[in-house]
Amino acid sequence: MSSVRAGADAASPLALACLRRPVPHTPVWFMRQAGRSLPEYRAARGTGGILDAIADPALAAELTLQPVRRYGVDAAILFSDIVVPLHAIGFGVEVEPGRGPVVAEPFTSRSDLARLRPFVPEEDAPYVGQAATIAVRDLAPEVALVGFAGAPFTLASYLVEGGPSRTFARVKSLMRADPSLWDALVERLADMAAASLAAQVRAGATVVQLFDSWAGVLTPAEYERFALPPTCRVLEAVRPLGVPGVLFGVGTGELLALMARAGAEVVGVDWRVPLDEARRRVGPDHALQGNLDPSACLAPFEVVAREARDVLRRAGSTPGHVFNLGHGVLPETDPGVLSALVELVHAEGRAGVLPR
Ligand code: CP3
Repeated sequence: MSSVRAGADAASPLALACLRRPVPHTPVWFMRQAGRSLPEYRAARGTGGILDAIADPALAAELTLQPVRRYGVDAAILFSDIVVPLHAIGFGVEVEPGRGPVVAEPFTSRSDLARLRPFVPEEDAPYVGQAATIAVRDLAPEVALVGFAGAPFTLASYLVEGGPSRTFARVKSLMRADPSLWDALVERLADMAAASLAAQVRAGATVVQLFDSWAGVLTPAEYERFALPPTCRVLEAVRPLGVPGVLFGVGTGELLALMARAGAEVVGVDWRVPLDEARRRVGPDHALQGNLDPSACLAPFEVVAREARDVLRRAGSTPGHVFNLGHGVLPETDPGVLSALVELVHAEGRAGVLPR
């Protein structure tokens, strides 16, 4: 472990909750906490593309830290994107404002495997580790740094579809038509994610999250055959790093029991499944992360508070709850609501909370 924060990190409320240990308070952070809902983000970002902002270590570190200063959350998430490794190896991925990742020449056949060369983080995208190093310097020891990567299925969906998709018909067709090509594709994407996460941990990340954002389009049988094995491959590679892992996806209610077998300490839950029901599906051996509906944060605060208390109540009192939204912060969210929400969770969270 190269991080000088390693000793203190063990005590971060986020890492403790991930390991289902007692915590001083329920840790809380928000997916997409850095972003367009923050005026200081819009000011610092200016008009450049997001991949340019990510490639500027000082700017990326600043964008990583802004939500910690503003909200008092228990974690910073490195300002980057799941498509950065694919962009960095020259696959031809860009991020279109308001749309998301787009691929000029999508992955269609076996010959495209040659375009997926191994990702060498310190050479191909040194700015990611540099941003983490700068951010860590300014983070209090009890605030975790979350490193992240896209899970193989979700990354493959962008490569095969060529951009965001509603039906995921192309990616599902490829799976069915040529399972062995699929396996070769996701194996490469797994190794890419593992390399990326390892580099982020070397640079100071103390928790890692694997985003399988779009896995919810798969049936349990499809998930088990096509998405779970490469996800296990990533998490197996990450295990020796000694940091807790979170596996998250949207619309994954029917997949939660399978996701619990992937090798992550924490299963992220979207807002559709109440946490007590998610607990039944996942079992007792994992922490849960979630799961306030992001759109609830657009309501008056008394409504936000009521729904947040319901999440805390369903999380129960046994250790192993990380409060988060069920997906990312919506750009139209009032930052004041999120600050008040952090206060509420810190004051009222009970899962594994030590007597004060
Ligand atoms: O605080 C944070 O979470 C910031 C770091 C972060 C970004 N992307 C920056 C970003 C993280 C963790 C991501 C992950 C990511 N990127 C995921 C998984 C999380 C999820 O939402 O399910 C996915 C699917 C992507 C791919 C991607 N990149 C999408 C779908 C978009 C949104 C397009 C849009 O404009 O709405 C992006 C662009 C992007 N990545 C933005 C941010 C802050 C928004 C564009 C911008 O601010 O310029």
